[in-house]
Amino acid sequence: MSETPKKCRLIIVSNRLPFTAKEKNGELHFGESAGGLVSGMSSFLKTVGTSNSSLSEYLWIGWPGGTVSEKNIEELKSIARSKYSSYPVFLTEEEMDQFYLGFCNKTIWPLFHYFPTYTAYQPDMWQQYKKVNQVFAQALLEVVQPDDLVWIHDYHLLLMPNMVKSRAPGALIGFFLHIPFPSHEIFRLLPGEWRKDILEGLMGADVLGFHAYDYTQHFLQCVVRILGHEHNMGLILTTDRVMKTDTFPMGIDVDRFISALDDSATQNEIKELKKSLPGVKAILSVDRQDYTKGILNRLEAFEILLESHPEFREKVVLLMIVVPSRIGVDRYDKTKKEIEELVGKINGKFGSIGWTPVVYQYKQVPFPSLVALYHVSDVALVTPLRDGMNLVAKEYVASRVDNTGVLVLSEMAGAAKELGEAIIINPNNREEIAAALAEAVSMPIEEQQRRNRMMRGRIKRYNVIRWANDFLSQLLAMRDVQNKFYVKLLSEPIKTSLVSDYRKSVRRLLFLDYDGTLVPFVRRPEMAKPSDEVSSMLRMLCENKKNTVVLISGRDKATLGQWFGDACMTLVAEHGIWVRKPREEWKMFKEQSADWKPHILPILEQYGDRLPGSSVEEKEYSLVWHYRGADPEQSNILAHELLDHLTNFTANIDLQVLRGNKVIEVRAAGLNKGSVGLHILSSESFDFVLSIGDDWTDEDLFKVLPESAVSIKVGIANTHARYTVQNIQEVHRLLNAFAGKA
Ligand code: UDP
Ligand code: G6P
Repeated sequence: MSETPKKCRLIIVSNRLPFTAKEKNGELHFGESAGGLVSGMSSFLKTVGTSNSSLSEYLWIGWPGGTVSEKNIEELKSIARSKYSSYPVFLTEEEMDQFYLGFCNKTIWPLFHYFPTYTAYQPDMWQQYKKVNQVFAQALLEVVQPDDLVWIHDYHLLLMPNMVKSRAPGALIGFFLHIPFPSHEIFRLLPGEWRKDILEGLMGADVLGFHAYDYTQHFLQCVVRILGHEHNMGLILTTDRVMKTDTFPMGIDVDRFISALDDSATQNEIKELKKSLPGVKAILSVDRQDYTKGILNRLEAFEILLESHPEFREKVVLLMIVVPSRIGVDRYDKTKKEIEELVGKINGKFGSIGWTPVVYQYKQVPFPSLVALYHVSDVALVTPLRDGMNLVAKEYVASRVDNTGVLVLSEMAGAAKELGEAIIINPNNREEIAAALAEAVSMPIEEQQRRNRMMRGRIKRYNVIRWANDFLSQLLAMRDVQNKFYVKLLSEPIKTSLVSDYRKSVRRLLFLDYDGTLVPFVRRPEMAKPSDEVSSMLRMLCENKKNTVVLISGRDKATLGQWFGDACMTLVAEHGIWVRKPREEWKMFKEQSADWKPHILPILEQYGDRLPGSSVEEKEYSLVWHYRGADPEQSNILAHELLDHLTNFTANIDLQVLRGNKVIEVRAAGLNKGSVGLHILSSESFDFVLSIGDDWTDEDLFKVLPESAVSIKVGIANTHARYTVQNIQEVHRLLNAFAGKA
């Protein structure tokens, strides 16, 4: 009988908890929190612990929505735990001011929603943002247990994944961003340190999710441009980590909206609403009070509709629910004033004793009232200027059980990608919105039903439970993906046994690659001179009579001669073309011809000219196009093109064209680090053979070495090597340990 997989606990971390606690006259009062994150997650969490769920329980870590006096903290903690499965994080007024009202809602929120002119760049706020992310990370570390799944949410906690990963490397961490991730052009407006820390912060997650494909692509584009890490189908391999990015469009709990229609509370609301709307068509607008939601544009469009279509006067009403949000951020306070002025203006201009064109309510509405509003409204008008997803649009469609009703939806909302049968508008075009409204209120029932049937089918299939399960199963699957890469990692016990084998041996052969193995890559190759530490480490190794040290590199012999000419080791240049034994002259390993070079050089030079920051290196028997210093995206395209070009061009010539680490190299076929390495190996009998390298050229050597040899790849990757290490420092530690220095 197969064993049932063990259920694990889910830890959710978000800035806001699902409840908001406030003190009134010294007493605690609890209310519901608003917004898409809380409403989506709360629906999913109801399934946790049920027989179908792979999760046993959950704990939600977050802020309870305000400051609470000392005497009420214990009571709050206990209610949070027992009633809401929550673990509150308490923040001071000052922290909330600089963090929540500050960096979160005056920097990240406007910038990521493409409002750069509303964005504040204040170092104090950034400092507080870092500090509060640490506070959340600390709270998580207080409760997290080895088998827990951790799921961090949203733009308040962008730094937290990396903070947790560095302190608890074994924790499985998911992160989901509920707002858009902007294009590189916008993201780069952040100061250099901030944008780097934010990307590295997010990359601490094992799985990173976005609502829409575009946001995922934008993130990957920023990672390659700012951090230099490429990806393969969303999988990013840095030297020491493997993580994944993917798109998960968040859904809603469709059944909750359908079944709410049967509740008596909802039915009573529906009756009341219908009574107050005799003979008029209702257009619904529901949002948090936020400038990104395009509420002003919507009002202006409604004004145009009444102006240009007098026949709709007294026949339509705009039910406008604006939910209070982020009070204390100037921009929000200002938008509220503007909305209220415009509502007053429209009602004053068109209203009559028996008809108020805009019925405006500035408050949070209870769930039954919300469902009743969705049910009675003939049209839903959703016009954000930019929105990560927009759940209101989906909730309206879900609540239309008879498939009637018309959704007018902004193309700038993530939801527009899934709700293509809505009347899609550009929110900046008021005339277009007005025309869409006119079309919506006049749309035949059959047409409404045709559109809604398709949309409802889609949102029923990919509901919020499916969304969360998809995300969490990808997170769990990451363990296997990572293990495939991590299985070769050189562990401490293996390292100790290698050192012991080294010490016991009497004739040792050590092949060491140079760039990326002993020294880090730099923008210009000539700047990678060995440091004193590297020089003395190499000296110490090759002065030991039992060792034959071979520095085996792709560099030209002039550079190697200049840097290591006096050293007592064998030098191999141009990936095996030239060999120089200690105190001897350079010799060609195999006779080579350079006749082909004049034909290939102009091709490489042409690409060098086309791509600023790239350069051509001419060695005696090989040619290299380097593009480490160039724009990463453009260079990727051109590298493919050049490879194609060269492969065709050299089809009948005895040359090999190889793509390496930000280089394309052309050289004679049949010669590589493997062939020269085997030649050296066969010259004597060795009882300890080691090869360390980071690049594709080292794979040629790893492949051909005998099984008894120890081969080590620097950086996590698919490799022929027996082991991998995560970075150059580990290479140094191992080599120093051989000499008893570490
Ligand atoms: N909502 C709410 N209280 C209200 C009105 C609406 O919590 O008084 C919910 C609504 O049902 C929806 C969410 O708030 O689930 C808004 O999510 P959306 O993605 O549309 O926008 P966000 O507020 O997250 O930007
Ligand atoms: C959006 C954000 C959420 C946030 C919600 C309400 O949905 O993505 O993270 O909780 O708005 O905003 P608030 O500032 O009240 O938490």
